[in-house]
Amino acid sequence: MSRPMRIDVVTLFPEACEPFFSASILGRAQEAKRVEIVCHDLREFAGDKHRSVDDRPFGGGPGMVLMCGPVFDAVERIESMDERPATRILLTPQGRRFEQNIAGELATRERLLILAGHYEGFDERIRVGLAPLELSIGDYVLSGGEAAAMVVVDSIVRLLPGALGDEASPSEESFGIAAGDPDAASERCLEYPQYTRPREFRGMAVPDVLMSGDHGRIRDWRLAEALKRTKERRPDLLSGDDSDGGLTGRRLQQRGDAS
Ligand code: ADE
Repeated sequence: MSRPMRIDVVTLFPEACEPFFSASILGRAQEAKRVEIVCHDLREFAGDKHRSVDDRPFGGGPGMVLMCGPVFDAVERIESMDERPATRILLTPQGRRFEQNIAGELATRERLLILAGHYEGFDERIRVGLAPLELSIGDYVLSGGEAAAMVVVDSIVRLLPGALGDEASPSEESFGIAAGDPDAASERCLEYPQYTRPREFRGMAVPDVLMSGDHGRIRDWRLAEALKRTKERRPDLLSGDDSDGGLTGRRLQQRGDAS
């Protein structure tokens, strides 16, 4: 088995991130040596006895700005802990919108270094000097990048081979995509409806086709339902308004029409 992917997260609140990374699928993926996740306290890299990492903005204005010194030191020292080059990621509402295709791409990297900010943001020279990939998890402002780091790490790790266990497949869910599989990566569609026991609940029955045992019919039904749901809820995924030019939706539509 290949070496586990390594993810370093630099944050002012490692205690907020660590329990999340130890739980559930992320915890199991680490136990199974698919990934190693290490949180670092940015204050450990401060240059003074007060452990300062931020200061008032030049030119005035509200809030505090994260300083270059501690961030550059953190990145350089953490990168030297492992010889594999890291893909640097900075979490900010100004970044490129994080979506499933980016998760799939990042899941193929050997090493990630994630910077979670706080306060009014980062000194601009951090962006210029470290040239990180800047990512936003959506058009809203969080009080810090920790929640964004958890979102990004979770969505990447679950795509690593073996992370979900043998039977589960990330390519069958909404925006289904498998790490490093460009064909699967283009299949962007919402997931079909799922059912489990009991067969009838408060007058609502499971569709007969799912009880038929006919795997061909079940596959066709699921494809048609996924397409219907995507048309109803996220027509942008099929229309070409989304970032992949609607290619996936069109491919899925063709497959759906053909069956
Ligand atoms: N930090 C604050 N808001 C953020 C967002 N929307 N995405 C990523 N990082 C953030």
